Parts: sequence; structure tokens; C-alpha cells
Amino acid sequence: MTDVPPAASVEKFRDWRFGLFVHWGLYSLPARHEWVKNRERLTDEDYQPYFDHFEPDLYDPSKWARAAREAGMKYAVLTTKHHEGFCLWDSEVSDYTVAHTAWGAGKDLVKQFVEACRAEGLGVGFYHSLIDWHHPEFPIDLVHPQRDDEEAIAKAAGRDVQVYADYLHAQTRELLTNYGPIDIMWFDFSYPGRQYPDGRDGHGKGRDDWRSVELMAMVRELQPDILINDRLDIPGDFVTPEQYQPDGPMERDGVPVLWEACQTLNGSWGYDRDNLDWKSPELLVKMLVDSVSKDGNLLLNVGPTGRGEFDPRALATLASIGEWMRLHERSIRGARPAEYTPPVDARYTQKGNRLYLHLFSWPMGHVHLAGLGGKVKYAQLLNDASEIKRIENDPHQQAQNTTMGGVSSDVLTLKLPIQKPNVLVPVIELFLS
Ligand code: GLC
Repeated sequence: MTDVPPAASVEKFRDWRFGLFVHWGLYSLPARHEWVKNRERLTDEDYQPYFDHFEPDLYDPSKWARAAREAGMKYAVLTTKHHEGFCLWDSEVSDYTVAHTAWGAGKDLVKQFVEACRAEGLGVGFYHSLIDWHHPEFPIDLVHPQRDDEEAIAKAAGRDVQVYADYLHAQTRELLTNYGPIDIMWFDFSYPGRQYPDGRDGHGKGRDDWRSVELMAMVRELQPDILINDRLDIPGDFVTPEQYQPDGPMERDGVPVLWEACQTLNGSWGYDRDNLDWKSPELLVKMLVDSVSKDGNLLLNVGPTGRGEFDPRALATLASIGEWMRLHERSIRGARPAEYTPPVDARYTQKGNRLYLHLFSWPMGHVHLAGLGGKVKYAQLLNDASEIKRIENDPHQQAQNTTMGGVSSDVLTLKLPIQKPNVLVPVIELFLS
């Protein structure tokens, strides 16, 4: 077993920069958050109607994959099983799968998804929940739906998490054996030692429960080129800030680490009909740019409906991002952080001798770029390749009406149009000399 991520996969992942996360399962039917079973303390019996009515007749993952590609995404990660325990493939070790629903006899939604991604040239990842609120041997703990049900807790007293771990390992083996090369394994999540607010033991779970070291070794053995995330309670190949943007390139023990921010469209991962907390396409583009400027990826989630479609709000957002990406892809794809400090409310990315200045707010008339005096041989707006004039500053210049004073010679000043270009985030491409 080796703990070092495969170098070629790391560079491929860094070049991708932007991916699609898909949270889809039975919780798409109640359509009020993927944690609904936990939040409403639903029993298996309460939850059964969603299994009985799972009928995603419009499921056509080629549409998902096309929407992702057109949005500028390069990979897609699907929830093969979320915390509710329902499996989107015909697992040999479970009856709680799509293939056992009335609608889904003989169906393998994971297989269709993988094929659709490959057809659109997307990398493929599997999200797989370590937690399982349906498995009969998964001990009731502080995040379990039955955490307050004394009778259920008494009945569950003899549960053996190691029997569940065998199941987890067997399913992981199926997923990484039956679908060809998989790029990413995204386990979720560990909470060792977690307590109730009053200090009682919450029976949190971690590496010993999942047998994480053994699980990771098996993943690497089955898929030598795969990247594994960091939620097994042992270090993985990349770290996964969730619903926040870090304030700079991420590190582990002082060493730069591969990272991917996972973000939602409206705060929920599963389809959440009445949640109107939608982020604007402009904000989402800024989050993508921000990630790349800090050497990270953005994994943006869509929760498809119970019919199996991306809803119109999600599609409209992806289309807006896609229009921005059509014109600005080269400031994102394969880009890395730059060594220069950007002006206020701006982000740099860099590829070779091209430096990309992303302006999050549009300044009046000029923008001053520290450290770039004498270093740029040409500048243009990226969206239309229209030239941007450069002003090399003379530190001895006195401010006079419209002549610029007080700007040092290592600063490059750009002359901007008054009108902000009609794109979500304007980008200026600077050719370094
Ligand atoms: C969390 C949640 C979950 C979601 C995940 C995505 O850990 O449990 O619902 O799938 O984050 O990062």
C-alpha cells in the first residue's frame, strides 16, 4: 500500500478545475433536504413510501452530462449511496437498491451515469456514504434518525459495526470493479468521538469503525490511478472544504495540499423544492475563479428531481456559467495561482506567460497592478480580445488635472472603458514579457 497519490492523476485533477456533484436518491421525493430522514426522525417504515414511489421516468444522464460539459465542467461525481442507504446500482449485497423498486427492476443507474459521462468526455467520480441509516447492523448514534427513540436504541443494542464495515467494503469493491476506470472516490463522512451537547457519548464513527486503512488500500489496489478524498478519518489525496471558500491555498501540516471546494446551488445537496436560497450565476463564477486563484477546484452540486431531471433553475444557472466559460475557459482550465498580489476585489490566475486579472467589481477608468510595471507586453479583454491600453507610470509625475501622479514605477496602470463588459466577471488577459 502506498499513501502517495498518483502524480499524473493529481495534475489531471488540477487541470480540470471545475466539476459537477450530483446528489440523487430517495430524498429527491420528499424534496426537503437529503437529511430529511434524520431531521424528521423518520423510521424505515415512514421512509418506505419514497422507495415505493421511486419512478424517475425522465432519467437520462446524457442530458446531465451534456449540461455539465456545456457549463465548462470536466468531471462529475455521483452519490452511489447517500446516508439514507439507498443504492443507485444493483448491489449484490443489498436489497435496498433501485433494482428492487417496482420501477427499477434490472436497472443500474450508476452504469448509465458512467457511460453518459464518458460519452461527453467527463471524468467520473463516486460519492459513497460511510454512514447508513438503513443497514440493520449500523449502530444508532447521534446523527441517526432514531437517536431519541429509546425502544429502537434498546433493540439495536447488539448491532455490530464491523458487520456493516464488511458491507461497506463489499459495496466499494463492486463500485470499483464493475464500471471501468474511476477517477475519484469521495467517501462521506467520519465523526469520531462526537458527543451530544450535554457531553454524553454520541457513538461517533471513524477509522476503526470503517477500517479505513484497509478500505483505502483496497481502493488503490482496484484503481491504481484513482484519487481518494479526506473523509475516512485518515489523510486522503485531496481535502474537501464544504460550503465555504478558504482564504488562500490550502495546506496540511504546512505543506500545500490538493483541494476541492464542494458547493451547492441553494444550500441543500438533494433536490429541495421550497428552498429559494439560490446563488446567482455571478456569485458562482466568482467562487470558481476564487478557487482556481488559490490552486483549488470547485465541485458544484445539482440535486435532480424525483423524475430524474435537473430542474429549470439549475439548468438556467448552469447555462449562464457555461456562457461565461465559453468566453473565459482559458483563464480557468489548467490555470494555476499567480505570484503577484491582485488589486482589491480581484483575483489572478496564470498559465505560462499569460496572467489573468478577474475584476469582481468594475473600477472607474483605471486599475493599478502592483509589481507589474515594465513586465507586460500586451493586454486585452478576454471576452472580445479588445486591446486594453497600458500606462507605464512615471513616479516623478505631478498630479495635474487628468495626468496621473503618485503611482510608483513598479505599478502598471490599465486604462479601462467606463462600461463594464457585459459578462458576469470581466477578465483581462496580460501577456508577460
Ligand atoms: C455533508 C452532508 C451531506 C453532503 C455532503 C457533501 O457531509 O452529510 O449531505 O452529501 O456533506 O459534501
